[in-house]
Amino acid sequence: MNLPNYKQAMLRTKKKYQTINYEIDKKYINKFKNKTYFLKTYGCQMNEHDSENISAMIESMGFRKIDCYEDADMVILNTCSIRENAHNKAFGMLGRLKHLKQTKNSDLIIGLCGCMAQETGVVNQILKDYKFVNFVFGTHNLYQLPQIVTEAISSKKQTIEVFSKEGDLIENMPVKRDKNYKAYVNIIYGCDKFCTYCIVPYTRGSQRSRKKEDILKEVNELVKDGYKEVTLLGQNVNAYGKDLYEDYGLGELLEDVSKTNIPRIRFMTSHPWDFSDKMIEKIAACKNIMPSVHLPIQSGSSRILKLMGRRYTKENYLELFNKIKETIPNVSISTDIIVGFPQETEEDFQQTLEVAEYCKFDNAFTFIFSARENTPAARLKDDVSIETKEERLQRLNQVVNHYFLENNQKLVGTTVKVLLEGMSEKKDMYFGYTETNKLVNFTGKNKKIGDIVDVEITEAKTWSLDGKIKS
Ligand code: 5AD
Ligand code: SF4
Repeated sequence: MNLPNYKQAMLRTKKKYQTINYEIDKKYINKFKNKTYFLKTYGCQMNEHDSENISAMIESMGFRKIDCYEDADMVILNTCSIRENAHNKAFGMLGRLKHLKQTKNSDLIIGLCGCMAQETGVVNQILKDYKFVNFVFGTHNLYQLPQIVTEAISSKKQTIEVFSKEGDLIENMPVKRDKNYKAYVNIIYGCDKFCTYCIVPYTRGSQRSRKKEDILKEVNELVKDGYKEVTLLGQNVNAYGKDLYEDYGLGELLEDVSKTNIPRIRFMTSHPWDFSDKMIEKIAACKNIMPSVHLPIQSGSSRILKLMGRRYTKENYLELFNKIKETIPNVSISTDIIVGFPQETEEDFQQTLEVAEYCKFDNAFTFIFSARENTPAARLKDDVSIETKEERLQRLNQVVNHYFLENNQKLVGTTVKVLLEGMSEKKDMYFGYTETNKLVNFTGKNKKIGDIVDVEITEAKTWSLDGKIKS
């Protein structure tokens, strides 16, 4: 049994990480033939991609995926800690699973992994009040899944394996990708920024870059398999390479990935602090790097940004924003904003509204501050009432939504390239995303998933566009 420890998770050392090749012990292969599993994923793309590794490992053990948790022999929740509602959703699901185990399927195996598994409070609660959970494993223990699941099933004891600190980098983990035309590729794990509100540096560990050769090998294989798009993933992709190389960062990596000739390259998420001129130059110069940047601002008030430990002021952000807009033709910029941070005044919030008016973001994910276990912001005196926080969120949403629509309206009558992803919820229409990452529902015939097609935009909505294929 390994339990998470907050103090250890905080530690950062100058340690160099080894790369280890994943290998599954033969004794686990097909051990659970004819058993079924259901996997529920909460949170970000990093978790979605981890779930692709989890599925591949479980399936190599013989389990078969099903879509209804009530019929499954094993249910795994891959959880997220970022805000309280993500927590509540996972605990709500555990409640339903408890009921299922008590009433219908006493042999049900229940597992929890992902970011919540790294939290001391969550694991203590599971040990005390959720004894029906069979196993818990942390984000640094993913590769041990076959062994953990087998031990939990055969010992019939609650198995908890959570390393507080990351170990070596594991390469060649098996992966069962959700889609066969676009793929996630991890380039950097963890985060060393320690923004005061954020739990990620504790749940995902130190910043560790994958070697460029391993990344390029993975992208080249995807190209060979006919993939059309890769998203280079990391909690802060702009820090790529800093722990490995003297003079090779995300700018250089983007250039090398561009040379693989994969049609579309995206990357996320960027911290404004590490956004280099080289990156901007490469995005502008390489046709297959999509002109779409997710650049979280979090607040428009320099005073709040300081309390958040973001390392930039409103002015620094706007300077970078303008440089990106001026250098990359037709770039779209999206952002994340937190309202109701402890001690945020009406004046601070007004500055956030002003920045939103100025930037006219193409998309914005807006959140109410949520105090996370053991983070510095959770210890700040919070004098903003929940009513004020909710009211600010609504006012902010009104402003940002207005500009989503305004930006979309500018595209009506133009022709854009869209990667076709499937049939839309609206019958007889396809859907896909533009180079600038806008959702389009469109009419047309005889096209297939993975095609990149020219679409004429006919109508703009707040969160999507309508169009028709240009013949
Ligand atoms: N409360 C509210 N929002 C948060 N985010 C991260 N931590 C918190 C928190 N404690 C938001 C940030 C981040 C996005 C992924 O989630 O805006 O960019
Ligand atoms: Fe959630 Fe962050 Fe973990 Fe992603 S890395 S699952 S957003 S807590």
